[in-house]
Amino acid sequence: MTGPTTPKRAYVETYGCQMNISDGELMEGLLAEQGYEIVRTPEEADVVLVNTCAIREHAETRVLGRVSQLNGLKRERPDMVIGVTGCMAQRLGATLLEQAPYVDLVMGPDGYRSLPESLDRIAEQRSASRKAKAQLAVLDFDPSESYQGLEQLHADGPVAWVPIQRGCDHRCTFCIVPYVRGPEKNRSAAEVVDEVQRLAGRGVSEVTLLGQTVNSYRFEDVSFPELLRRVSRVDGIRRVRFTSPHPNDVTPDLVEVMATEPAVCEHLHMPAQSGSDRTLRRMLRRYTAASLLEKIDMVRTAIPSIALSTDIIVGFPGETDAEFRETLALMRAVRFDEAYTYKYSVRDGTPAARMPAEEFVDPDEAQARLAELIDVSRRVQAEINAGEVGRVEEVLVERQGRRPGQVLGRTRRNKVVAFDGDPVAVGSYTQVELRHTTGATFVGAEVAGVLAAEAASA
Ligand code: 5AD
Repeated sequence: MTGPTTPKRAYVETYGCQMNISDGELMEGLLAEQGYEIVRTPEEADVVLVNTCAIREHAETRVLGRVSQLNGLKRERPDMVIGVTGCMAQRLGATLLEQAPYVDLVMGPDGYRSLPESLDRIAEQRSASRKAKAQLAVLDFDPSESYQGLEQLHADGPVAWVPIQRGCDHRCTFCIVPYVRGPEKNRSAAEVVDEVQRLAGRGVSEVTLLGQTVNSYRFEDVSFPELLRRVSRVDGIRRVRFTSPHPNDVTPDLVEVMATEPAVCEHLHMPAQSGSDRTLRRMLRRYTAASLLEKIDMVRTAIPSIALSTDIIVGFPGETDAEFRETLALMRAVRFDEAYTYKYSVRDGTPAARMPAEEFVDPDEAQARLAELIDVSRRVQAEINAGEVGRVEEVLVERQGRRPGQVLGRTRRNKVVAFDGDPVAVGSYTQVELRHTTGATFVGAEVAGVLAAEAASA
């Protein structure tokens, strides 16, 4: 970068999914490479980027509030640059620049490669004319943008997210993602494996492969199961996860790799969305409740200890009470270890948003369905977890807990465990007895002697 010798300071604040967190790290990586110093608060920054989500309306209102709050900082320091990036930036585009005139840059997910250059352009325009507003919108889709060669600044720690795919070729009628992230683009398998090797070299032992429909990945002759196998065999990698899969691409080949590769964790996310065939059809999910149950049977037969999580939407336009009850029945039949539950949120531009107004479920009714669903799924979760109390499980220590001396980690089955472990180093693996459950998470106790053995062999 040309210009002043003091490095510019950039701050990235991320909302939304794991892919967004990964994108935030990517932007940090790009800026660091151009000589920016990455800082941890907006107060310290010359460039503030708010990396946004568009999946539900609520996500967007939160961000709009935050951006206007950041404008308070900018009033004190008019040289500051505020950028809004990610899915909401893509969705609202130039209208966001009008609505929030203090925003200098809007940039969709396909634009990140040009981020440093775009910031330079804003700086140039500003210095050319003090008065001119130098707003910039980078919103073009680039179907050839495979993010090849772009690498994120991974946060320190034993776990890392590795994007292998961006965009989506499905057209689930409720979902905005294909319209803000464009078609599916896959990274080369060699590049993914290379990145995982370098992460392992830095002490990362758990990776999560990311994509909007991660298991539909294919690059040349490498399918997702094959890539998963290759990543699992990288030296130093002890745990591999992936998210978010589409149930239709949970194939016998994938299950075989999951069952046979020791590093692949015993956890699978199966976003069901609904238990009603009519609703699933209208959502364009391309499976039925029965075929989903068959898939889950296949997975459980091959991997009996597997933990399953899911996403469910209630109040999809036209969903009747009877259809909602079919979703409850599915929840009770499968008994998911964890369910992420959502009230349908209209997304302009999606097919469901164009359904006749009278089809839309009354908001109070949708709220009542959500409450009932949460009640059922929490109860199931608490029962499953209560049944696991007493087990001894391998835990990867991920970070310090809130209390001094307490650490937090995860089991292979993706369950969060807090335990006292003053001398336990973040990044180490240890055996923990699950002593108590809050319903969703566990409190445990380290099993004596195991840690010492680990340390001796490390
Ligand atoms: N309204 C509510 N929930 C949605 N999701 C996606 N789009 C919408 C929407 N319009 C949920 C789905 C998806 C998860 C990431 O977000 O359950 O799996």
